[in-house]
Amino acid sequence: MSQFLNQNPRTHTCHDLNIQNLGQKVVLMGWVQSLRDHGGRRFIDLRDRYGITQVVFKPETNAKLHARSHELRSEWCIGIKGLVEDRKSNGGSPNPRLKTGEIEIDVQELEIFNRSQTPPFLIENQIDTHEDKRLAHRVMDLRRPEMQANFKLRHQVMQATRRYLDKDQFLELETPALVKYTPGGARNFIVPSRLQPKSFFALAESPQIFKQLFMVAGMDRYFQIVKCFRDEDLRGDRQPEFTQIDIEMSFINEEDIYKMTEGLVKSIFDSVLNVKLASSFKRITHTEAMSRYGSDKPDTRFGLEHTDLTPVLKDLNGGGVTLFEQTLSKGGMIKAMCIPKAHELSRTEVSKLEDLVKSMGGLGLGRAKAAENGSAWTQSPFAKQITPEALKAINQACKANDGDLILFQMGKPKLVNMVLAGLRTRLAERFKLIPKNTWDVLWITDFPLFEHDEDTNTYIAAHHPFTSPRPEDIERLKSNPGACKSRAYDLVINGNEVGGGSIRNYDPEVQAKVFEALGVSAEEQESKFGFLLEALRFGAPPHGGIAFGLDRLCMIMAGASSIRDVIAFPKSQRGTDLFTGAPTPIDNKQLLELGLTFRI
Ligand code: AMO
Repeated sequence: MSQFLNQNPRTHTCHDLNIQNLGQKVVLMGWVQSLRDHGGRRFIDLRDRYGITQVVFKPETNAKLHARSHELRSEWCIGIKGLVEDRKSNGGSPNPRLKTGEIEIDVQELEIFNRSQTPPFLIENQIDTHEDKRLAHRVMDLRRPEMQANFKLRHQVMQATRRYLDKDQFLELETPALVKYTPGGARNFIVPSRLQPKSFFALAESPQIFKQLFMVAGMDRYFQIVKCFRDEDLRGDRQPEFTQIDIEMSFINEEDIYKMTEGLVKSIFDSVLNVKLASSFKRITHTEAMSRYGSDKPDTRFGLEHTDLTPVLKDLNGGGVTLFEQTLSKGGMIKAMCIPKAHELSRTEVSKLEDLVKSMGGLGLGRAKAAENGSAWTQSPFAKQITPEALKAINQACKANDGDLILFQMGKPKLVNMVLAGLRTRLAERFKLIPKNTWDVLWITDFPLFEHDEDTNTYIAAHHPFTSPRPEDIERLKSNPGACKSRAYDLVINGNEVGGGSIRNYDPEVQAKVFEALGVSAEEQESKFGFLLEALRFGAPPHGGIAFGLDRLCMIMAGASSIRDVIAFPKSQRGTDLFTGAPTPIDNKQLLELGLTFRI
């Protein structure tokens, strides 16, 4: 134990001191950020979580200490005691970018707590080090001020959440992470049970069923900031282990959820970023979002909206263009996006866009430039075939004026929407259409209840199987599942799905009907979900809820480009922890204990 620490408790942080403190004897602790010699003196920027303070070793104050200060290197952990002095009076110049920029500490005592190896990268903002290297040296990465700011923000978001929900009568309740495997959701991580050989737990992909059980248990309003586990393929906004702000409420409808959520999100933004969000959030139905933006999480801060030409071209039998005719005969969709003349694209850029389309699975990029007072198209493979009537109708539908570029996609709706949505975002970035520091918050409502899985020709739950259908759709759950709408909703901020939830099936019979429509047999319902159905049979209240991706919310609020920048120890793109080396093989003894052997 360092005697220095016992005798000299820290008096201030490296962000505290200013001209008001001149002449005070202070003790600071932290890490050596940078070192330089000037006029025979040794200057050090001392850094802690709070900021930076310049400390100076002067030969005239203590020659021995001054000589010793030359041992110091970047990232050594030290403590100093000294006098607060005015930089100007010492012949230096103030640094207006630092809160402590007018003062410096004339060091009288130095304690080296720990030396450091040479850091693997600079401990500063905006480094261009490869992320894998940052993850492999995560502790050093977390020392960087921008990372420290991200985690402070994350802490503030969590505290603001707890404050708001506590005030609103919510109870913070915990649920198990080791749960029963239930089919139908995300792929689960599986944990073998030592005490029950050949049986397995799943790691909870969310507390969904448990929070519903809390409602049946009469808890009325629940929340939890909780880890969820999903064995999914990873992307910039997805991690196998992530955190939700999970919420459930009894005796409510959609409007109550919207109101509670809007209050919570506004209060988080206000207290953490001092940003006042719109008094109520915009709402767009799923159908409208898909039609106008090709996405169920559109960024509506910019235009470049899509136009669905399918009905127009159906009326005109394809308008003379073979590709259009073929698409329509296969029941496909034809969509367009009009790029105004002001946003000129070079030929090379257009062909790069075509490469992008192909990388997303599209066949190519149809295009046409409106010309001659809207009576002709140039630069278009369709120009020779299109009938004058269809040309005019398309220009009109897309609001295309001379010089505007129309981009087309056609084929299966899922692919057409995905490709055009990707193009929309890419072009908005290219034309710098996305305003900075703006918050586009919207609800997506009226989702379909089921999605059709073409590979297996079955229906799967679009949200999850506990989501309630609209009352008017209950009768056609079996006869026309594809047409049923759900009582689910998503919250989207700046084009990111930040939250999602639904009103649940609290009537066990409706729940059983939904399972049936999903192809879950009566026996399977009892063996897999019997405990839920049983609970619903004991007077379950009407209930519903929502879960926010805490990591995604923090990523957006911090202006980070990946959720890995707001998760302290995230998994790499390949699903590994580069810092600890997990996952690792386990030895045979452990496997045997679990009754497991490898076949490969
Ligand atoms: P859902 O699956 O939509 O709903 O998840 C809710 C929110 O969690 C975030 N999220 C993720 N964040 C990071 N990495 C992931 N792999 C990941 N997966 C999801 C998203 C998403 O909007 N139980 C339901 C909620 C409910 O119905 O109340 C659920 O989990 O921001």
